[in-house]
Amino acid sequence: MRGNAVQPPPQARAAAAPALAARPAGAAGSDADSWSKLTRTGGAGAGCRRRPLTLLRADGVRGRAARRSRLIPIDTTCAGSGSPNDSMTILVTGGAGFIGSNFVLDWLADPATRGLPLVNLDALTYAGNLHNLDALRGDARHVFVQGDICERALLDRIFAEHRPRAVVHFAAESHVDRSILGPGAFIRTNVEGTFALLEAARAHWGALAGDARAAFRFLHVSTDEVYGSLASDAPAFTETHPYEPNSPYSASKAASDHLVRAWHHTYGLPVLTTNCSNNYGPFQFPEKLIPLMIVNALAGKPLPVYGDGLQVRDWLYVADHCRAIRAVLARGRVGETYNIGGWNEQPNVEIVRTICALLDELRPQPQGPHARLVQYVADRPGHDRRYAIDARKIERELGWRPAETFATGIRKTVQWYLEHAAWVAEVQSGAYRDWVAANYGRR
Ligand code: NAD
Ligand code: TYD
Repeated sequence: MRGNAVQPPPQARAAAAPALAARPAGAAGSDADSWSKLTRTGGAGAGCRRRPLTLLRADGVRGRAARRSRLIPIDTTCAGSGSPNDSMTILVTGGAGFIGSNFVLDWLADPATRGLPLVNLDALTYAGNLHNLDALRGDARHVFVQGDICERALLDRIFAEHRPRAVVHFAAESHVDRSILGPGAFIRTNVEGTFALLEAARAHWGALAGDARAAFRFLHVSTDEVYGSLASDAPAFTETHPYEPNSPYSASKAASDHLVRAWHHTYGLPVLTTNCSNNYGPFQFPEKLIPLMIVNALAGKPLPVYGDGLQVRDWLYVADHCRAIRAVLARGRVGETYNIGGWNEQPNVEIVRTICALLDELRPQPQGPHARLVQYVADRPGHDRRYAIDARKIERELGWRPAETFATGIRKTVQWYLEHAAWVAEVQSGAYRDWVAANYGRR
């Protein structure tokens, strides 16, 4: 499956991902209006025809020579419908990861955007999992390209072939603990990769004219961690909070935010930046707090709580984040930053207790309550104490608020992991096991 276009029949989608299909569309009406204003004749995927698969090597070599080396399939389905100005395709980077795959599935299910095709560029690192997108096999609106955002030649080919009207940039190294053990990959992907993507987008946008140029957007998905750590009584992060990143991860994301800002101010590239709090939900790789606690508890393994467990995060259900991104893409003001959060600050121990209580209810263990598995372990170096998002700007300007409470979102999430044991087993093989040994073996 690795490296192939991912395309299931649409009817399989609803059957395979009922939880995702049932998500609320939120401000769908207003987003639909915005998108239809941008739609030009022949757009919205209406005229998509199946075209032959192009085999493309990262350096652009085609045909027989390409077949002898590393192949990157580029499915040119829906690559635009004729003129350089009428493509409604969007380019998503990192769309096989946790948030990216939720975004891709929701984009293709949302009534406001479901006719609009997308190209999904993902390097399939340890965090990228094509099985997240199994429900899209055979769906001509989704074109998957395995490739690296640092490879400028590949980016140029994708822009030339698909002429995206927007970029939604998720691709990143995203785990703080990994950034502490090996920061190099974070600098490469998050900083150099964002730079390459900005340059490719600038070249593409610079050649556009008229409506297509006016409509083009580069949406950069970032994190609240760029703002640093809050005192317990400090007000939540607003969009004007100073940047004070403390981990290699947050420093690399802060650097990428600054590049995006500079490409707008210097070159006029129409950018949007979102800074979101901690996400949770389906398809999250079980190295992050919530899925790790669920899968460990189910396996009767220790639940490692760092330090005193009183660090506070502001948790947001992933579908709410995806809906916020769609709203910003459709109606956000160019050059602006939007903070996205769940209005749900909780200390880590409270999150772990809630998960244990849900599992006691849904999957009781004869050995006793799941909370017996909690183990306090050595703290993370430089561990930020508290994050909290003030999400009033996105509510005021775009009418977005989270639809899920933590109680509803965490119940859905625990149920999802209970119902997807095969997915969990698959990601727990190989690289995941190596990572567990590297991170927890020394604690
Ligand atoms: P993830 O680690 O689950 O997924 C990242 C994806 O990017 C993977 O599919 C991976 O294969 C891909 N990728 C990595 N390097 C790449 C490269 N060089 N070229 C192409 N693809 C590459 O991350 P996530 O949790 O889904 O986060 C997505 C984005 O959202 C990130 O930019 C992250 O900083 C941001 N964010 C995450 C959270 C959160 O709680 N997870 C919160 C706020 C913001
Ligand atoms: P994480 O999910 O890694 O997200 P982030 O570091 O980006 O906030 O961690 C969330 C919180 O949970 C953070 O304060 C660290 C803590 N944590 C643990 O206590 N134990 C763990 O095993 C993990 C992975 C995280």
